[in-house]
Amino acid sequence: MNPAIFFDALQHELQRIQYGQQPPELYNPIQYIMDIGGKRMRPLLTLMAAYLFTDNWQKAVRPALAIEVFHNFTLMHDDIMDKAPLRRGQPTVHEKWNENIAILSGDVMLVNAYQLLLHVEADKLRPALERFSRTAAEVCEGQQLDMNFESRWDVTETEYIDMIRLKTSVLLGYALELGGLIAGADDETTQHLYAGGMNIGVGFQLKDDLLDVYGDPAKFGKQVGGDIIANKKTFLLIEALQQAKGSLKDELIGWLNQKDFDKAEKVQAVTSIYDQLGIRQLTEARIGEYFARGFTNFEAVKADADRKKLLIQFAKQLVERES
Ligand code: IPE
Ligand code: IPE
Ligand code: MG
Ligand code: MG
Ligand code: MG
Repeated sequence: MNPAIFFDALQHELQRIQYGQQPPELYNPIQYIMDIGGKRMRPLLTLMAAYLFTDNWQKAVRPALAIEVFHNFTLMHDDIMDKAPLRRGQPTVHEKWNENIAILSGDVMLVNAYQLLLHVEADKLRPALERFSRTAAEVCEGQQLDMNFESRWDVTETEYIDMIRLKTSVLLGYALELGGLIAGADDETTQHLYAGGMNIGVGFQLKDDLLDVYGDPAKFGKQVGGDIIANKKTFLLIEALQQAKGSLKDELIGWLNQKDFDKAEKVQAVTSIYDQLGIRQLTEARIGEYFARGFTNFEAVKADADRKKLLIQFAKQLVERES
């Protein structure tokens, strides 16, 4: 099985989706954000999980896209909250149109996501919807914590990990769980898949935090340094706050307290503090740990070894990703 077949199936079906028509101000931004790309990682995970237990993974395509549409909705709103100018190398929706449009288009996308999820077969629809609803609420909970942390200085690593489990990991967990559910896997199996997704999700968000500082702007597709500019309590900043001593700590706190600053200068200065503290290596090590835990969860899934390898290989690429 060539994993490109899953990607092509998703892209093909995406072209057939009608988000709605009138008024165009509401629907054009949806088409825009869905068309500017993205890795499609979550729906790919759903299809790979389904393929572990059935040859008819195609029946998971529309439900998988429900997750992708939901994900893009969260990005549209997240970019307003984070004041982000760029997404996938293109202007964000609120920059290209305006914030009200980004709010309302995002709202409809949540409805679109439910409509796509209705394509789950009737006998599995109720658990699919229940788990989706719980997951969607958790993502909002995580996003609120993320914003609460912006004005706090004492966020611990544990609090941070709990926050990213909510804002990011639960959706990866659900993507895998849903694939298993649709393909008829038992509860124990879908729980291993969910646990694997949760662990990989933590590693994935840590990598996102890392790329936000050390990514190549040409490949990353988002504004490099955006988290530093906004004093986001990322893993990198939390570790730096904990480890910095003496004048280096004063310098770091000084930058965090600056109200009027040159953005590029702050990004460069804080990055240099991270460099001096070896924060990059520490983050990379932690990413490796969480991915390894995820692979252990996948090992526990009872399924064909070659099919499992496909899933693990795919997840491994996410450790090395540059965008
Ligand atoms: C970005 O997700 C948001 C995070 C949870 C870090 P992705 O990195 O999957 O974004 P796309 O869909 O590939 O653009
Ligand atoms: C994840 O956090 C966002 C969502 C769960 C929507 P980020 O704010 O770090 O995501 P990016 O970096 O903007 O993609
Ligand atoms: Mg955010
Ligand atoms: Mg963001
Ligand atoms: Mg980020």
